Amino acid sequence: MQVEELVVAGGGVIGLSCAWRAAQAGWHVTLCDPAPASGSSWVAGGMLAPVTEAWPGEEALLDLGLEALALWPGFAEELSAAAGQAAGLHAKGTVVAATGSGDRAELDALAAHLATLGRPVERLTGRELRRLEPGLGPDVRGGLSVPGDLSVDNRALLAALRAAAEKAGVVIEERAWAGEGPVLICAGAHSAALHPALSGLVRPVKGEILRLGHRRGAFPLPTRTIRALVDGRPVYLVPRPDGLVVGATQYEQGFDTDPSVGGVRDLLRDAERILPGVAEYALVEVAAGLRPGSPDNMPLIGRLDERTLVATGHSRNGILLAPLTAQLVTGLLAGEPAPAAVDPARFREDR
Ligand code: GLY
Repeated sequence: MQVEELVVAGGGVIGLSCAWRAAQAGWHVTLCDPAPASGSSWVAGGMLAPVTEAWPGEEALLDLGLEALALWPGFAEELSAAAGQAAGLHAKGTVVAATGSGDRAELDALAAHLATLGRPVERLTGRELRRLEPGLGPDVRGGLSVPGDLSVDNRALLAALRAAAEKAGVVIEERAWAGEGPVLICAGAHSAALHPALSGLVRPVKGEILRLGHRRGAFPLPTRTIRALVDGRPVYLVPRPDGLVVGATQYEQGFDTDPSVGGVRDLLRDAERILPGVAEYALVEVAAGLRPGSPDNMPLIGRLDERTLVATGHSRNGILLAPLTAQLVTGLLAGEPAPAAVDPARFREDR
């Protein structure tokens, strides 16, 4: 059998997942990235949270996210075995907390929206939430329990993906893609520069995160992901074995990745309001990443021309959608069409 060659341009969670799966399917894969496993995949909170990310008008994204979430336990198990190291899945669920009446009204709207889609979520009082997560502060007045929304330690995941990909034969070259093909473009927010058909379809959406380290004697870490609305600002706190990732702001400011004073101030203030014990934690890291935004927040997965495939534009959901994206890409490599909802052809003017 002739071995087919594939270059993957971009070594974030999408590029590594696709490269690993393509190598498993028999392709000879070279992955090019000047700094693999960095960028927004490194900065990410790692939430696998289609339900708590749901938004009216984005029902197709909810369906895609739920399909991806269903793949995660098997994907993580297979990846851990292939890599010889844990993929970092944390299966303890999510709670959503609201403070003021405006925030509670917004959660009511989310719960009502999910109910109309046949996906009811459990409403909890502040006291019931504190019974689940005793670290929640007195300002938390009510919220939701969403046990199916999970998280993954993004950095453990990236290390496992890199190890599994290399064991499967992927050659990782620390350089920019030099235009050789056939290519799969997975360059996240930088993808638009790599093919004219992506021009105007992928834009950088900046997000800042904090990493807080648990210190001896400090209030214990929460068990679940905690998402909250604080005076209209969303904040999330995602547990890691040794601390929390707190995120995330959202701005459209081009390719700027400087964490801003105002963004960090908001995250610290809102995190402390939700989980007062974090004041005793160590502030270990402040970082910003660039989500690859698409016009409809759905990813762009498909064929651009005879020698170019693409998997990018995952917006806020790259980690969640990685296993499904890799599955769709192996389908494309086998000659199957992309589902219309993710095919970048949906934006072609002649359609
Ligand atoms: N998925 C969370 C974020 O993009 O901040």
